[in-house]
Amino acid sequence: MLLSIVVPTFNEAPNIEELVRRVAAAVDGAGIDAEIVFVDDSTDATPDVIGEVADRVAAERAADEASPLPIRLLHREHPTGGLGGAVMAGFAAAASDACLVMDGDLQHPPEEIPALWRRFARGDVDVVIASRYAGGGTAEGLADRTRVLVSKGATALTRAMFPIRLKDVSDPMTGFFLVDRRTVDDAQLKPRGFKILLEILARRPMRVAEVPFDFADRHAGESKASVRQGVHFLTQLTALRFGKMSLFAIIGGLGAIANVAIVWALTHLGVDYIVAAVIAAEVTIVGNFLLQERFVFQDMRENASGVWQRFAKSFAFNNAEAVIRIPIVALMVSGGHVSAVVATAITLVLAFFVRFVFHSLVVYAPRKAGASASPARGFVEELDAQATAPGEL
Ligand code: GDD
Ligand code: MN
Repeated sequence: MLLSIVVPTFNEAPNIEELVRRVAAAVDGAGIDAEIVFVDDSTDATPDVIGEVADRVAAERAADEASPLPIRLLHREHPTGGLGGAVMAGFAAAASDACLVMDGDLQHPPEEIPALWRRFARGDVDVVIASRYAGGGTAEGLADRTRVLVSKGATALTRAMFPIRLKDVSDPMTGFFLVDRRTVDDAQLKPRGFKILLEILARRPMRVAEVPFDFADRHAGESKASVRQGVHFLTQLTALRFGKMSLFAIIGGLGAIANVAIVWALTHLGVDYIVAAVIAAEVTIVGNFLLQERFVFQDMRENASGVWQRFAKSFAFNNAEAVIRIPIVALMVSGGHVSAVVATAITLVLAFFVRFVFHSLVVYAPRKAGASASPARGFVEELDAQATAPGEL
């Protein structure tokens, strides 16, 4: 059996040679037949360096009559999904179902590959995780105390949010693991950002084993982790845990608060409540659209129609909704039973559900939707998939 070693790289030129040398020594020492698949999104000379090293290694090994260690390069001109997207692309390109993922900066010591492989070869698990936090593992290579705290805090939060799926996993954020790619549900998986293993584990139940390891210092170059990745991670976690509908609800809730506040402020300034409701509605429609684009449907934008079309659909829907809703608010108010504020709040909650359905199925619908056997059935299935998106325990 062959082991495919998938290495995502972003500007790692000074690390390639050393990485390949140590991976080769590790797999040779353990008698593992392997290939290395670099998935590269670099803007520097990394792809050239990989090409040179691959040629040299191939020539040397042929001369020594050593087992081949094919080194392949998948350079993505138009990278999608960041690190997670790169790993998925590596799975697709790998020659073997047994895919080991490791960083290209030597923070994941190649000398651990045989231990992961041996555990995997026992055949009773879907994924073997190299853990910094299992007995014997360490996280010393994290840049500073802040990174250590952030890493530990994020790990604790993540485990608390997925107590069942992650019960055997001490390090769901590690980027060093060996997985049988057939057990990865790539139809469901929408990789975003840095934490691909978490996505894999949260989507469906996996049989897991861990092997401790020492997270090393970076060999050369700079880390690509950033505050932006951190924020990304938090939205990823929320989306994984609660599904899109909850994120949509949080944003809708914020919009509703803004809406009510604007109505309140304007009516107190003496503006007629219908005029106030119209202004409040338009402001929140635009605000909600921007937040949704960024935080709820970011993974669907790429396959959906263009941004102005999406905005047009969203804007038209919300205005139609407001056109229907405002007379109802007016009726409720003139009926004398409720205040403008309460009537606005009640109708907004009802409108929420309709709005979610419309956005996930129409505004962000894939451009070329595959024809479904029964449109009604396809509709219900798609709605269910969207509303509950992953994460149920
Ligand atoms: N192809 C590709 N595309 N590779 C990327 C990208 C990208 O957009 N961003 C980062 N990488 C590569 C880097 O070149 C490196 O090989 C690896 O992914 C990890 O990135 P680092 O910049 O070294 O980040 P880190 O050390 O902070 O994060 C690592 O440690 C975390 C644990 O603290 C990663 O392994 C994470 O996956 C891991 O969770
Ligand atoms: Mn690193």
